[in-house]
Amino acid sequence: MADAGTQNQKEGDESRLSEAEIAVHWKEEEVYYPNPRFVGQANLTDPNVSDRFSEKNFPECFREYADLLSWDKYWTTTLDTSKAPFWKWFVGGKLNASFNCVDRHLEKYRNKAALIFVSENEEDPPEAVTYQELYIRVNEMAALLRDFCGLKTGDRVTIHMPMVTELPVTMLACARLGVIHSVVFGGFSGEACGARIVDSGSRVLITMDGYYRSGKLLDHKVNADIACRKASEEGTKIEKVLIWKRFRDKSASPTPMVEGRDFIVNDLLKKFRGHLVPPVSMAAEAPLFLMYTSGSTGKPKGCQHSTGGYLAYVTGTSKYIQDIHPTDVYWCMADIGWITGHSYIVYGPLALAATSVIYEGVPTFPDPGRPWRIAEQLGVNIFHTSPTAIRSLRKVGPEEPKKYHYRFKCMTTVGEPIEPEAWRWYYEVVGRGETVVTDTWWQTETGGFLCSTKPALDPMKPGSTGPPMPGIYPVVYDETGKELPPGAGRAGNVCIRNPWPGIFQTIWGDPDRFVRTYYAKYNKDKTSTDWHDWPYFAGDGALWAKDRYMRILGRVDDVINVAGHRLGTKEIESACLTVPEVAEAAVVPIVDAERGRVPEVYIALKPGVKPEGIPEKVTLAVETVIGKIARPRAVRIVPDMPKTRSGKIMRRVLASISNRMDYGDITTLANPEVVEQIRVQVQGAGPVEKKAAPEDIKRFGQDSG
Ligand code: WTA
Repeated sequence: MADAGTQNQKEGDESRLSEAEIAVHWKEEEVYYPNPRFVGQANLTDPNVSDRFSEKNFPECFREYADLLSWDKYWTTTLDTSKAPFWKWFVGGKLNASFNCVDRHLEKYRNKAALIFVSENEEDPPEAVTYQELYIRVNEMAALLRDFCGLKTGDRVTIHMPMVTELPVTMLACARLGVIHSVVFGGFSGEACGARIVDSGSRVLITMDGYYRSGKLLDHKVNADIACRKASEEGTKIEKVLIWKRFRDKSASPTPMVEGRDFIVNDLLKKFRGHLVPPVSMAAEAPLFLMYTSGSTGKPKGCQHSTGGYLAYVTGTSKYIQDIHPTDVYWCMADIGWITGHSYIVYGPLALAATSVIYEGVPTFPDPGRPWRIAEQLGVNIFHTSPTAIRSLRKVGPEEPKKYHYRFKCMTTVGEPIEPEAWRWYYEVVGRGETVVTDTWWQTETGGFLCSTKPALDPMKPGSTGPPMPGIYPVVYDETGKELPPGAGRAGNVCIRNPWPGIFQTIWGDPDRFVRTYYAKYNKDKTSTDWHDWPYFAGDGALWAKDRYMRILGRVDDVINVAGHRLGTKEIESACLTVPEVAEAAVVPIVDAERGRVPEVYIALKPGVKPEGIPEKVTLAVETVIGKIARPRAVRIVPDMPKTRSGKIMRRVLASISNRMDYGDITTLANPEVVEQIRVQVQGAGPVEKKAAPEDIKRFGQDSG
């Protein structure tokens, strides 16, 4: 961790604070060691793994991951860099992702659950789908896509579905044909789905009529109509909308069918009963799917992932970091509509013949004991979730895990930096002080984990993601491209120096933006075909400690620049959470004529806590943990944070309210009603004020969705 040696210099002269001195505010955390029972059964216990994957063995070291797959044809070149930075992995190799996730397990695991669907409605029993059943369902769906829709290898299909078994069935059916799926998170609006249809050039949209969310049955079919309208306005015609039924015996949507365009999948499938479709043997570098993610401009980027490299990487990391064995019951609470769900609900776990749980609804429905009841009922022994979910479960049900008899051997967090306070609750209460926790840092673009502790080998350090994964060689650069080595004590931009098999191949339809966004910043020779010249720019601020544990400070666009100094929003939020009454904290920048930007803090309190005196306590905590430079302009206690339906706090909305600017479209939030409440609280009951805001405020937090 950073040296504290420079700490004293800053007293009395804030304006001369360097980034180094900001960074030293992190305090070194106590480490925790994996328990011997876990180590005894772990997949990765060889301490020489880092050597096996060291630079001298690169890129051949990644054969180890690729060898976990079944190839139709072995590759000839492990890494081709001739079109840098458009890397090609396992060139010459051929395989099929659906075969690897389904067919190859039949001999040994035919009758074992591949997926277990848990309805949000607790009255409904869980529904297990064996590998044999999955095989049949994927084949029938593939036959339908090929013979009824006329889809073929290389076509794109947009899938806008909730968390149901039919979603992985549809994805794997596409993969079987070499059709490129583009899954849009079910909680996105019809318009957002339409924009992604246009960008990907899909002719077919696959959806579901409805689903449960927080106890309500939502009409989802209506979004398909909006998506088709939006797409056609922009010149893309959806020829067929395929609609899965949420219930066998009734419709979940009152929205009428459009004659000639809309078809019920469950009816169509009757014609394809028992049909088998041979898996199409795909080139390793053929695209498997697109996953849209937001960038620094308004237009989402379609991240294109490969078949061989991607599947090898998620399989390897699922095996070694999540420690998945075929005997495990694995539950990742993310949504399949995000990259986490693609890599670590569907492709990684199924390639390893695990049992993967799919939960339809909200973790706290009908009460915060729900996740622990599901874990108990299904015998879940590997649990994967996000810091936001952890904070929210801790907020509403801090004692709930104690009531249920589940036992996790390992747990993962992903998606945001986790505050040590929240980490400790996860470890002590959810994990009963014995479960190994990995904090996995990665991105939509990277396919799989970049940094994490190796669960049986590395001690855990709350608030730090961990050392680089085997075969990943990070570097932290300052703005000028100067390297900040581990232990430098200064935060900078984290980059990955080398290609790895899970890295995305390009932005669909926009290769220039791909190079510009991810490689241009630190590349000095555009013509080079040597990978050493192309560090991947991750867009995250990070501090690399002497022990090579990475501390991710958040998106570089989430950084608040106070009087010329960079303060990680997460750093301030973590300070707020040291106040025991605080359940959740969100920090946003507000424009200040003098100091550029200053932070403002929003907090939600634990149940039953009185607000008196809390703002003062929070301010004091921030000053004590970080320093006066981070003192919030205001601390606002709110009833709840505005959140996306995947549970992320919408800091952009809070920043807009604080800065008296238009907060834009909030219809896709989980709780849009809270926004107006907060606005009135901050701005008073008068009309909505609208001020022109600078770009960084408008974009604030946008990338973290
Ligand atoms: C953030 C999600 C800290 C980071 C897999 C990254 C994290 C962005 C962590 C990518 C972590 C993800 N610790 N920050 N363990 N994991 N992030 O594309 O800012 O939805 O750039 O992928 O989430 O989010 P994305």
